Amino acid sequence: MWRASRNKFPAGPSEGLKRWSLGPLNNNPLEYFTKVAREYGDIAGMRVLNFKTIFINHPDLIEEVLVTNARKYSKGRVLRANRHVFGEGLLTSEGEFWLRQRRLAQPAFHRARIASYAATMVEYTQRMLNGWRGGEERDAHQEMMRLTLQIVGKTLFDADVERDAQAIFVPHWLPTPTNLRAKREIAQIEKILYRIIGERRASGRDAGDLLSMLLSAQDDDGSRMTDRQLRDEAITLFLAGHETTASTLSWTWWMLAQNPTMEAKLHAELDAVLGDRAPSLDDLPRLAYTGHIITESLRLYPAAWGMARLVVEDHEIAGYPVTKGMGVAMAQWVVHRDPRWYDAPEEFRPERWEDDLLKRLPRFAYFPFGGGPRQCIGNTFALMEATLILATIARKFRLRLVANHPVVPLASITLRPRHGVRVMLESREKKEAVSSSNDRQAAVAD
Ligand code: HEM
Repeated sequence: MWRASRNKFPAGPSEGLKRWSLGPLNNNPLEYFTKVAREYGDIAGMRVLNFKTIFINHPDLIEEVLVTNARKYSKGRVLRANRHVFGEGLLTSEGEFWLRQRRLAQPAFHRARIASYAATMVEYTQRMLNGWRGGEERDAHQEMMRLTLQIVGKTLFDADVERDAQAIFVPHWLPTPTNLRAKREIAQIEKILYRIIGERRASGRDAGDLLSMLLSAQDDDGSRMTDRQLRDEAITLFLAGHETTASTLSWTWWMLAQNPTMEAKLHAELDAVLGDRAPSLDDLPRLAYTGHIITESLRLYPAAWGMARLVVEDHEIAGYPVTKGMGVAMAQWVVHRDPRWYDAPEEFRPERWEDDLLKRLPRFAYFPFGGGPRQCIGNTFALMEATLILATIARKFRLRLVANHPVVPLASITLRPRHGVRVMLESREKKEAVSSSNDRQAAVAD
């Protein structure tokens, strides 16, 4: 399919650094990568400050990198630049150490285990809704961030972080070293974690959660994880496990508010399946459209909008030599909007996922959770959480966009709404109550 060209670096913007400065890459990476893909196709060579990177845009090439040749890559420098935050946690560690930690954490994410988190997800959402009133203006992104932080805290660490979540503004997980606010936020989360770890160690309680598993894990030599190792794992799960899902939901509210037909279909499904009760795990198979909305949201606004790897062993991609030290980049944002795989790719159409589109697509035409051995450990957790939260809230409220508030994507490590998503809450129940009493009055008048 690709013409082999030995000893050559693929054509790409690196050929014309005058035309392509670093400015557009930094200012708007989404637009930049889209443009490079449009101009150079499935494979493009880029040179960023003399660091050679191959940018791939075809699902089969992505599969080669993430799955087939996974062992020829490490995670690379983008994430490692954030090591002051993540340390040697699951997201950033490598090799034997990573494998051991991944095995250790895996049971907390087994399907049966995750099923037991569903009730907490719904309960915490309802607790949030108890404080919501129709007519109020709120930042949907901030609300989602607080909610998902509390859910991760409760499910994985059996800790109630509600008060902490109120104190933390909106933690961003791409804190540049100079970003003082972000540093303060990370320090705050760190404080919470050390408190939780300390309390658990002191009580010796086995809560049967992820934290207990990590605490009781022993190496062959009998040694246990240090506080620092625990801190790294915990902060990774706290950060990786809440902002991604929160952003997915924020984008969902934004798109639903602009697409009343889809919103009406969602409400019809919720009313038919749930009536006047809250959702539970057992309802998920029947909340198909609700699920498609989340799938579509992750296609158009993938919280992990792009990924990078560092080559650790020489080999070839599509006939081009890749050598140790080079980078390979891929962008969900670009692939998920490629007209070769999706009709009207820029349109929000949850219906496209009906009739098993996912099974008909090339495997890596849709990869919001990455793939291969480093695939997101929280994949099932996140999908269940997002669907349950969407169902619980949409049953009770419509979120209307506040006029003139700019909703713009900010592509740092995650893709989030730069200024949040300001919404006006509109109670659905009240409207229904009013309209049904109107109906009754009309019936009486008849
Ligand atoms: C919509 C929500 C989410 C999205 C889009 C997402 C996306 C991703 C992606 C793309 C990766 C792979 C990164 C790479 O290979 O370079 C990843 C890894 C990871 N995610 Fe998620 N994630 C989400 C939710 C979660 C949740 C809920 C948790 C935990 C509770 C979580 C924990 C992790 C961890 C620990 C890793 C590193 C896994 C490893 O390298 O072994 N994520 N995520």
